[in-house]
Amino acid sequence: MVALVLILLTGLVQVINSSAFNACSNCGNTAVPYPLSTNEDCGDKRYKVYCNNGRLEFLSATGTYYKILRIDPSANKLVITPPLIQKHTCYSSDLKMGGFVLDESLPFNISTHNTVMLFNCSDNILLSPLNCSSNSICRQFEEKVEEGSGCVDTLCCHFLKDSAMNSHKIRVRVGTCTAYTCLVDFKSSDPLDSWKYGIELQWLPPT
Ligand SMILES: *[C@@H]1O[C@H](CO)[C@@H](O)[C@H](O)[C@H]1NC(C)=O
Ligand SMILES: *[C@@H]1O[C@H](CO)[C@@H](O)[C@H](O)[C@H]1NC(C)=O
Ligand SMILES: *[C@@H]1O[C@H](CO)[C@@H](O)[C@H](O)[C@H]1NC(C)=O
Repeated sequence: MVALVLILLTGLVQVINSSAFNACSNCGNTAVPYPLSTNEDCGDKRYKVYCNNGRLEFLSATGTYYKILRIDPSANKLVITPPLIQKHTCYSSDLKMGGFVLDESLPFNISTHNTVMLFNCSDNILLSPLNCSSNSICRQFEEKVEEGSGCVDTLCCHFLKDSAMNSHKIRVRVGTCTAYTCLVDFKSSDPLDSWKYGIELQWLPPT
């Protein structure tokens, strides 16, 4: 009887070790929950993230690293920092790469909780379903946030990036819009000082 229980327990421990407990060790002070993987020996390789000098980062399809701000493993979500808008310009730091682009073959997409603000847009953008009115929240960002100061008086817009929009890209380029930022779980009654900057990504749970 005791032997049987021991055999069962040993089996259980092995099952646990090979799945949930195969999490990677911390990156700096940041926990790296399963299935995220900082190296070959832990996590699930399809969920690759990078530990660069104690800073946990996500790599886009175009080779840009974005800092991971927080991770919610129970909801299969993580939030990355939007790129900075370069000083005295209205260019996002990832403009040359076309903005934020996810590799469609990987199990990540952009969740439906992101409100994207676009800046320095050309007139043709008005045709899409965006809020480019004078009371769009992008005006507040331009006028009250230091980072937005290079974009003052440009045509700007915001929109909820729901599934009707491509869930693998936040596109910017010269000739459409040249900068963007993004808020997670934004509600129209939220005052500027409570905005949560970030791009929330969701992952397909490992099978
Ligand atoms: C706005 O975009 C245009 C190209 O579409 C660019 O020439 C211009 O420098 C940009 N303005 C700022 C302030 O970055
Ligand atoms: C645009 O956004 C502002 C701020 O959230 C809102 O008050 C306004 O009703 C929106 N306009 C349109 C046309 O949706
Ligand atoms: C993003 O991925 C999640 C989890 O795989 C999925 O449930 C959701 O439908 C996807 N969203 C879009 C817009 O494709």
